[in-house]
Amino acid sequence: MLFARPHLLGLEGLTAEEIDFLLDSAESFKEVSEREIKKVPALRGRTVVNLFYEASTRTRTSFEIAAKRLSADTINLSASASSAAKGETLTDTARNLAAMRPDAIVVRHPSSGAPDLLARHVDCPIINAGDGAHEHPTQALLDLLTIRERKGRIAGLTVAIVGDVLHSRVARSNLFGLLTMGAKVRFVGPPTLVPPGFSELGAEIVWDLHEGLKDVDVVMMLRIQRERMNGRYFSSLDEYSRLYCLSADAVARARKDVIILHPGPMNRGVEISSTVADGPYSVIMDQVTNGVAVRMAVLYVLVGRRKAGAEQGEGAVPIALAEASPRRAATGE
Ligand code: NCD
Repeated sequence: MLFARPHLLGLEGLTAEEIDFLLDSAESFKEVSEREIKKVPALRGRTVVNLFYEASTRTRTSFEIAAKRLSADTINLSASASSAAKGETLTDTARNLAAMRPDAIVVRHPSSGAPDLLARHVDCPIINAGDGAHEHPTQALLDLLTIRERKGRIAGLTVAIVGDVLHSRVARSNLFGLLTMGAKVRFVGPPTLVPPGFSELGAEIVWDLHEGLKDVDVVMMLRIQRERMNGRYFSSLDEYSRLYCLSADAVARARKDVIILHPGPMNRGVEISSTVADGPYSVIMDQVTNGVAVRMAVLYVLVGRRKAGAEQGEGAVPIALAEASPRRAATGE
């Protein structure tokens, strides 16, 4: 099985085999985080730059921990600490970083398409850690891994993605990933945040929360993206939460073995009640744990491959699962 792409910019266009490959790889890496000494030498001597132009706790920390557990060196750059604050363009910043020969750049940016732009200007792997309202592929991969782990499969499940779909890169990446893996996706939220046109993306659209949750296997809650809203999408947060906050009552409409996901950060009492967030159906902490494994897999597959290719004098060539085996990397066999 192959993952031949040089970058991870989004889940749109990835095949089910490619997604399975990344999820299987992540599963092998999970065990490293359970060891007393949480480190394998897989990316020793490699450098990973985290370039974050937007606030982040979970995702940046998760990428950093993932890189460190693979023994890579990590550099963290935030927008306020970089020359962007002095007027340098993103491309110039990236070219300068690339000139220092990092082995991967992980980028989060408020503008959709920023990682694609970088990928055209630098020659190391670019990993999209969230670009505007476009994509957040590693988040969707960790969501898929959590669902697969808990449900034993993804194909055939019905997944409700609830809330601010319009501004959500998490919703878009999950939509692409879930449809490719054979799940059904239902977008649930007010018409201002779930426009009718979104049905063209392949999702069913339901505007009522209780109706939308009927018989679903998985509920994925979204945060209201106030920082991306430049209009009035609902009259008040209070009204929004009255209609769309995930309460125990609403959860009762779903299947008995439903699982509840949220990418974080949560706005308790706005889109999700504390009873549900901390309740028995919640797998929110599993998502965070799985995030590290998914990012280890992505870094290993993209960066480790370059190493293998260079040693063979072939540049960045696709390599087979056997050669890229994270299990082998983890055990050192
Ligand atoms: C998400 C993001 O930044 O897109 N959070 C995350 O990566 N943990 C979701 C959000 O901010 O609502």
